Amino acid sequence: MTCIELTDIGFSYIAGRKGIFSNLSLKFNPSEQVAIIGRNGSGKTTLAKLIIGMLKPSTGHINFDGKLIEKKSIAEIAEKVGYVFQNPNIMLFTNSVENELLLSLQRFNFTKNVKEEKINSMLDFFDIAKYRKIHPRLLSRGEKQKLALATVLIQDPDAIILDEPFSGIDMAQKIIIREFIGKLKDQKKLVIIITHDLDSVLEESNRVIALSSGKIVFDGKKTDFFKESKNLHKAGLTETYMLKMLYSLQQDGLPETILQRKEVIGFFSKRINDT
Ligand SMILES: Nc1ncnc2c1ncn2[C@@H]1O[C@H](COP(=O)(O)OP(=O)(O)OP(=O)(O)O)[C@@H](O)[C@H]1O
Ligand SMILES: [Mg+2]
Repeated sequence: MTCIELTDIGFSYIAGRKGIFSNLSLKFNPSEQVAIIGRNGSGKTTLAKLIIGMLKPSTGHINFDGKLIEKKSIAEIAEKVGYVFQNPNIMLFTNSVENELLLSLQRFNFTKNVKEEKINSMLDFFDIAKYRKIHPRLLSRGEKQKLALATVLIQDPDAIILDEPFSGIDMAQKIIIREFIGKLKDQKKLVIIITHDLDSVLEESNRVIALSSGKIVFDGKKTDFFKESKNLHKAGLTETYMLKMLYSLQQDGLPETILQRKEVIGFFSKRINDT
């Protein structure tokens, strides 16, 4: 169970210039499903890299479970928080899918058999067993994305940050990734999803943090975020087809708290059965 707290964070890519963040404070609690949303360049990836220690804040502090991360190495942070990069190519280093997973287990003292078992279970779960001996560079975008997720999941961190997990993949791959996120939720992990895909926010998260030019313009419950379209506009985002449909169904009695597809179907099925 990991709790991450950022206090008064300031950060600039270019020393001496006005930074992307100043006085940014945020707290992530164990078992939360958080969506970080915002336009291109609003600072989502930078925020993730600060959390995992890849970038160092110029001011302020980041704590994990009450301990300052300045005092931890990147490897120590990685034990607590897994980060799946926006570009999966950055995460793949070896000459085969199986070696990629083996590399992720390097720091663990598991026996050869246990490692093998863990690798097999990841290959099966992500449906990539047939690529076991294949060079990761030869995989499609979606398959690379699944392998990148597997290399993080296999290390069993308490918290996972997924940076744009749904970009550039088709519906079938999306469904697998959604199942994967469901599995993380069942394991009570802190799941932070950085995304432009508002429809996936409706399905996957219970808290929304919206960034605009490095400022938090909304932090609260998903239901409160979607209640008012001005929240979307503050974050520079526009309504998706799904959201337009939900708002129109709300005119027909759908409660504002019902946002997931399954719940919407459940609500109207019940209404039909009751009439
Ligand atoms: N290595 C870098 N050097 C200088 N500026 C950078 C660097 N990386 C990002 N930036 C700038 O910092 C700002 C925030 O970038 P960041 O990548 O965090 O945004 P983002 O919200 O993740 O965007 P996207 O949705 O496109 O992934 C942008 O203005 C970007 O140009
Ligand atoms: Mg980004």
